[in-house]
Amino acid sequence: MGILKKIFGICETKKPKDPHCWTFSDGRIEIDLNRAGELSMPYRSIRLEGKGLADRILVVRDDSGKFHAYNNKCTHMGRRIDPVLGSSDIRCCSVMGSVFNAKGEIVSGPAKENLKQYMTVKQGSILSILTV
Ligand code: FES
Repeated sequence: MGILKKIFGICETKKPKDPHCWTFSDGRIEIDLNRAGELSMPYRSIRLEGKGLADRILVVRDDSGKFHAYNNKCTHMGRRIDPVLGSSDIRCCSVMGSVFNAKGEIVSGPAKENLKQYMTVKQGSILSILTV
């Protein structure tokens, strides 16, 4: 990641190309994985924002095909986070770059609290994320 991106806290993870691949209602996010091609490969991710969400969400597919959802807000100063390619770690996109493991626990950096993680349930091609 370029130093300017780190200085300005610009993350690598993009919003889904198909903005209609997910919905949010009654505290539950539902992602149609058939429409969210970004999540078809390990270590890929999307960020979900808007649609009434109280928090920004980062969704990551790991190398075993499981999905993880995190509050997309570093616990140091609130910058967005990205998955680390080839690893299950999550890294803050800022210069300080706190690193968290797949459970959201701090591995390194100035963050003092673990990342908030949300329960995920996959049924067929629908991935549900429970935000409450
Ligand atoms: S905001 Fe993430 S390490 Fe500072």
